[in-house]
Amino acid sequence: MEVLTTIAETRAARASLSSSIGFVPTMGFLHEGHLSLVRAARAADDHVFVSIFVNPTQFGPNEDFSAYPRNPESDLALLRDLGADYVFMPSPEEMYPEGFASSVDVGPVAEPLEGDFRPGHFRGVATVVLKLFNIVQPHRAYFGRKDAQQLVVIRTMVRDLDVPVEIVAAPTIREPDGLALSSRNTYLSPEQRQAATILSQALSLAEEMWTRGVRDAEAVRSRLRELIEAEELAQIDYVSVADPETLQELERIHGRALVSMAVRIGRTRLIDNVILGE
Ligand code: PAJ
Repeated sequence: MEVLTTIAETRAARASLSSSIGFVPTMGFLHEGHLSLVRAARAADDHVFVSIFVNPTQFGPNEDFSAYPRNPESDLALLRDLGADYVFMPSPEEMYPEGFASSVDVGPVAEPLEGDFRPGHFRGVATVVLKLFNIVQPHRAYFGRKDAQQLVVIRTMVRDLDVPVEIVAAPTIREPDGLALSSRNTYLSPEQRQAATILSQALSLAEEMWTRGVRDAEAVRSRLRELIEAEELAQIDYVSVADPETLQELERIHGRALVSMAVRIGRTRLIDNVILGE
């Protein structure tokens, strides 16, 4: 496994390869969710690139950029074990040198949900992912369904800007009690960790309502809110039942529906989602 820190080295490594390249962009502090993407790439592609870069431009001024957990040594050991070929770990200065000014704005799909609570977040995500795509030039790139809106934003960018990469979506990996794996789970105290299961409990309730035949989206939203509000440590940012492609809120569920939420447990902000009708 080769560790690359500059764009020039990474371009040179890429240029020496001709068969299929799979790419997994991450912010590190790797867990089974990330590793499942690396395994999918390892199974489908001849060469596997992973990036580890805590991207400053996707964090708001009052967010956790400096506190974001980092553990490069253990990340590299995990990636070596899984058989990744190249790890790109640039510095912020390498990615954003003096004078850097361009950005990618994908329009309406970046506005609701996370976009509403984290202004500028998806501009930062789309811009860094396009840069990474241009540096690594993969055939396929792997993203988790855990970040459902991020996936829609990336697919929109790739479609609109004719980026020659296939986007592969992978299922959300969860703890045995349902909590979706996230680097941010490390912030939770034992008591908060217990309370955090409220997100996956709410998603199970949505699935149960859907199975019972409930198609009134507002009924689902309000029942989920009620459940989450009963957890004292939880503060809702949003509970949404939306069209999985446009991310616009639904009145009635006809085909598929994306049920997503952001909930704060103390100072830790957690997101989770499920698609109904799939
Ligand atoms: P990060 O949060 O490190 O996530 C990297 C990838 O892992 C994303 O595609 C995310 O959806 C996926 N992932 C995270 N938790 C998961 C889980 N429990 N199950 C399955 N997949 C999971 O997302 C980012 O980094 C950044 O925004 C990035 C795309 C790297 C751009 O900076």
